[in-house]
Amino acid sequence: MDERIISREENINERSEIQVEQTLRPQMLGEYIGQDSVREKIALFIKAAKQRGDALDHVLLAGPPGLGKTTLAQIIAREMGTQIHIVTGPTVEKKGDLAAVLTNLQPGDVLFIDEIHRLQMAIEEVLYGAMEDFKLDLIAGQGPSARTYRIDLPRFTLVGATTRTGLLSSPLRGRFGVEMRLDFYNHDDLAKIVMRSASLLDIEVQNDGALEIAKRSRGTPRIANRLIRRVRDFAQVKFKAVKGFEIDKKTVDEALRLFDVDDRGLDAMDRKLLISMIEKFDGGPVGIETLSSMLSEERDTIEEVYEPFLVQEGFIQRTPRGRVVTQLAFTHLGYPPKVQL
Ligand code: ADE
Repeated sequence: MDERIISREENINERSEIQVEQTLRPQMLGEYIGQDSVREKIALFIKAAKQRGDALDHVLLAGPPGLGKTTLAQIIAREMGTQIHIVTGPTVEKKGDLAAVLTNLQPGDVLFIDEIHRLQMAIEEVLYGAMEDFKLDLIAGQGPSARTYRIDLPRFTLVGATTRTGLLSSPLRGRFGVEMRLDFYNHDDLAKIVMRSASLLDIEVQNDGALEIAKRSRGTPRIANRLIRRVRDFAQVKFKAVKGFEIDKKTVDEALRLFDVDDRGLDAMDRKLLISMIEKFDGGPVGIETLSSMLSEERDTIEEVYEPFLVQEGFIQRTPRGRVVTQLAFTHLGYPPKVQL
């Protein structure tokens, strides 16, 4: 289990963390901060579907973990006035599991499938007819006496979430009416999210403190919301902070130094990755499999959790020959710039 403080995975060991996170999620589109273009499009589709009295078209949401894909699916259901049913790709083991969920849907309901790229092929095929014709073909019995039943499903909205659209099969991808990508949040939007969460949690934060947390949250609200609570813990113990204590930039600096999150939001694992590439491979190129065994981390985790941010911030480049550490990473980590040959 990845227990980095800036992990974008939900930490299942901390039940209360998940519960707190739930309470911080915006309930309606109007409360949702950032991702402006996605938000505008969703608002438009919801309005159009409601005017027609129809279900919203199927939506595919792509982007790194922690950016709000589940939150958006929940918001869609709430704005449409319908229910959401949540499943995760790899946990759907049998066709019957999916059939059970599909046959329980009411008109206009949202079926949210997280990690949809990890559905088994046979199960994915059940979705094709359900998405396209709102029909479900079931086979009852075995051998010569087997019969096929066709069941009508209500018009529903499938919201699929994936960390990488490239992993989705084209028949499945083609059945979504709308495809949207969530990007890392900018610092201003994240600072607004920090302020909003702080007020919900009754934590007092100054603007410069919120901005500092934002800068160190890897563009990810889930991380920002976790860092605020860790900084609060720090302030409470270190400064005996009680009501009236306002978290400022200095407090955030001190707390995050203790938690090993640097001023660009990199943590010990990010630095280990970059430093290994610099010291063992002179900055690369390094193949993903080599990185995976060097760090004892799964390839998928490196590609979906660590890399996107390091690439976006310009610490790593992906090249056809492998990953390469940039000059920025050399200087950020205190190494002399690499001599260009
Ligand atoms: N909490 C987590 N993500 C959020 C967002 N995008 N807007 C407001 N609050 C959030």
